[in-house]
Amino acid sequence: MKKHAFIDGTWVETKNYTPLYSPYSKEKLADIASADLAETEQAIEAAVRCKPVMRSMPAHQRARILETVSRLLEQRREEAARLIALEAAKPIKAALIEVDRTIQTYKLAGEEAKRIHGETLAMDAVPGGEGRFAYTVREPLGVVGAVTPFNFPMNLVAHKLGPAIAAGNTVVLKPAGQTPLSAFFIAELFMEAGLPAGALNVVTGAGRVIGDKIVEDPRVDVITFTGSPSVGKSIRAKAGLKRVTLELGSNSAVIVDSDARIDSIIARCVTGAFSFQGQVCISLQRVYVLEDRYDEFVEKFVAAAKQLKLGDPLDADTDVSVMISERETERAVAWIQEAAQQGATVALGGTIEGGILAPTVLLNVPPDAQVSCKEVFAPIVLINKVSSVEEAVDWVNHSVYGLQAGIYTDNLHTAMNAIDKLHVGGVMINDIPTFRLDHMPYGGVKESGVGREGIKYAVEELTELKLVVFNRSR
Ligand code: SIN
Repeated sequence: MKKHAFIDGTWVETKNYTPLYSPYSKEKLADIASADLAETEQAIEAAVRCKPVMRSMPAHQRARILETVSRLLEQRREEAARLIALEAAKPIKAALIEVDRTIQTYKLAGEEAKRIHGETLAMDAVPGGEGRFAYTVREPLGVVGAVTPFNFPMNLVAHKLGPAIAAGNTVVLKPAGQTPLSAFFIAELFMEAGLPAGALNVVTGAGRVIGDKIVEDPRVDVITFTGSPSVGKSIRAKAGLKRVTLELGSNSAVIVDSDARIDSIIARCVTGAFSFQGQVCISLQRVYVLEDRYDEFVEKFVAAAKQLKLGDPLDADTDVSVMISERETERAVAWIQEAAQQGATVALGGTIEGGILAPTVLLNVPPDAQVSCKEVFAPIVLINKVSSVEEAVDWVNHSVYGLQAGIYTDNLHTAMNAIDKLHVGGVMINDIPTFRLDHMPYGGVKESGVGREGIKYAVEELTELKLVVFNRSR
């Protein structure tokens, strides 16, 4: 099966195609269009041509298109989840959750399309403002260049397309090379929902060539990217004065205070660490437990993690499957070995079973081990002992990242102090950092990124504020 590029409302044959294989079964899934510069140029031109159409489309019509996509996806929920499981090796139960979230994301975007507005200003607040009436409006930026990762191939695409279309923009989307099928599937739904030709264009192929073209082309008005900090930094360097939203990595942490109810938090912590093989930006990577509860936490955590079922992502019982590539698996194993050489204890895992990296628990990990200070993006979690919550907060902040963090405590004072001190984009009280609802503001500080997603907040990133001032005393 050949999957063509989606340009100007039609499927366009490209000169070259690249085979796409399932990371788990290794079966060939499709031949994917490998767009070159000329074809990317076509996609940008189509998006530019469609700008006035989208800009003048009434909000209720944009909302209807997005709500229709949400409804169509609901009708094809199982098929969509299977596609994610096949191309990303995401266990089907997690893939179904992703599809359900995507249905919500488009629904939220449809609702948000009707709420995009500015405000009136009290112009007489300062001398010189008398007799003037002013208000702001939010206008679409124009052409959105969207670059998305493999780990949520449907919902992170939705977090770009939903707000972009809600705000009246057009889009050139470059989905991750490993997971293009989910993006093409969504393009079909947009077509069926009546999105004008050119409003959405999907190009796949050599990441650097297409990516650079989209980022550097002056007709693309804004870039929204989710992926690694290194690519994020290079986008920022190449984008010039364009608006750029970057959702990058993290080595997210949770603090477990002495009063935490260990029995009731273990299952959640295990899910946070190992869901989709830890390939989630807010995956639980570091756990800091107060010393008086450390042994109990470790024992119960390891016992629960041992119960996880490894296997075929299409199997409804599977909790953990293969990582996105063998290269990534080898990299993760090397990091485990490095931590062990630096003195960490491997309490569970560290082994490969049928190509799957077993859920791995490391204890007493030094802060400069890569599994601690870098984004591990693998089914690996470290659990370290601390003598106070203050020490734990320092360790959480001892990171180049700052996306989300969590703390389990019943003490309001401790919680308020942690909220104040944690240098991250979002703090979860009595939860792991691996918590996201799709309308929440989502984004980080430091190398975790710039700007926020979450529909309302992404709409702000993808629109320009225009000021209007009336002078009543001509
Ligand atoms: C991400 O990995 O950046 C997204 C996490 C999520 O949406 O749950």
